[in-house]
Amino acid sequence: MTDLSTRPSDRAGAGLAFPPGFVWGAATAAYQIEGAVAEDGRRPSIWDTFCRVPGAVVDGDTGDVACDHFHRMPGDVALMRELGLASYRFSVAWPRVRPDGGAVDQRGLDFYKRLVDELNDAGIAPWLTLYHWDLPQALEDAGGWTNRDTAYRFAEYAASVHAAIGDRVPVWTTLNEPWCSAFLGYTGGQHAPGRQEGAAGLVAAHHLMLAHGLVVDELRRSGAGNRLGITLNFTVADPHDPADELDRDAARRIDALHNRVFLDPVFRGEYPADLVADTAALSWQGRPWTDAVRDGDLGLISTPIDALGVNYYKGDSVSGRPHESVTGADAAHAERATRTPFVGCEDVTFPTRGLPVTDMGWEVQPEGLTRLLVRLAREYDVPPMYLTENGAAYADAVGDDGRVRDPERIAYVEEHLRALHAALEEGADVRGYFYWSLMDNFEWAYGYAKRFGLVHVDYATQERRLKDSARWYAGVAARNGLGSVP
Ligand code: FCB
Repeated sequence: MTDLSTRPSDRAGAGLAFPPGFVWGAATAAYQIEGAVAEDGRRPSIWDTFCRVPGAVVDGDTGDVACDHFHRMPGDVALMRELGLASYRFSVAWPRVRPDGGAVDQRGLDFYKRLVDELNDAGIAPWLTLYHWDLPQALEDAGGWTNRDTAYRFAEYAASVHAAIGDRVPVWTTLNEPWCSAFLGYTGGQHAPGRQEGAAGLVAAHHLMLAHGLVVDELRRSGAGNRLGITLNFTVADPHDPADELDRDAARRIDALHNRVFLDPVFRGEYPADLVADTAALSWQGRPWTDAVRDGDLGLISTPIDALGVNYYKGDSVSGRPHESVTGADAAHAERATRTPFVGCEDVTFPTRGLPVTDMGWEVQPEGLTRLLVRLAREYDVPPMYLTENGAAYADAVGDDGRVRDPERIAYVEEHLRALHAALEEGADVRGYFYWSLMDNFEWAYGYAKRFGLVHVDYATQERRLKDSARWYAGVAARNGLGSVP
């Protein structure tokens, strides 16, 4: 087991200053908050379809209305301003902009024009993500991310968004968490489109990365002055028993399939040799998945970027032996039967470590964040990093006095900020933190059952209410630090 005795929370209480200019923000994603799924020409995405699959989403929830942000956007921006956020990370809905993956609908672009104008007027820097999982259903019908052509459709979509608002958005990230899109979507089936096709996840991952590379390359060549990047979600894969050869090997395989499968192509222009060897016997539609990798792809994928978005919620304890109590990435999301997203790792388990857990059942492991950031800085030639997501769901309730008391969330964020700061001290170049999420929203396969927001949303009335954590976070942003900043 990892020694967790030096958790950053041991130093809780001490004041801590962040570097000047450190960016304090919050994040959301289009399908999770917008609603208005049939308005202004928007057509179904894979999530609209998946929500209708029996047992796929808890309580049969859908994003049809979500937080109704599409209609309440100016009020939501006013809330961000009240919190003193320096930046807001949001995603653009592909099925609004190119509803069937083909022709552009100007009305879809207009919504994002209004959003970025509202943000800029409020002094909040827009941080745009082009793809946070809402592939147009029409493109999935043509094979989705297992079809190489989808990467080229993505490049067309990106170009149309950039032509419309490229002049008013400083930072552009191509993809949010391609691990989830590829492996939860095409191998495990926990996420849309819900396919459970083994090595299809690897093929999808490659095409997602090709999509990323095409867009970065194209924007670079067009001379666009924006900062370009990608957001990856990482785990810290620790062997359950470091003395056990099987556990060590299981942890290596999970690290490869979760972290290095994206890091190595982006920063080294190659797939990790051990991953290729581990998966050599896996085929999809009768062919090795590596047939998807064509000459020139890795050169595009490794086009230099300016910002690496790091999403961190927790690490994993990994074992190559059966264990009863598991809490890992393959834990069940909803009722529908799914498979492990880790293709070829059907023997791997994720035993609990007895750490405190959030309402997601995710273990709270802030020290993993320090190790992750330091590792990225040491092992890869990374550009400035930003924590583009970190946060926690808890079963928040509105008190009789109208307050939402969420001390666990405050403690979670504080511990992770201390862990981030510890990484800064070890030389990692991290320039900002975006809490996930600005407001409670549609938490994918968990529907509305999990509340991650700084802002509480009453889904019956759409009333927004700042939780205690929101006020606390506003204070952190204002002081640029924790406690009485030294
Ligand atoms: C991440 C997603 C984000 C949200 C958080 C809790 O994997 O990017 O949309 O669901 O998890």
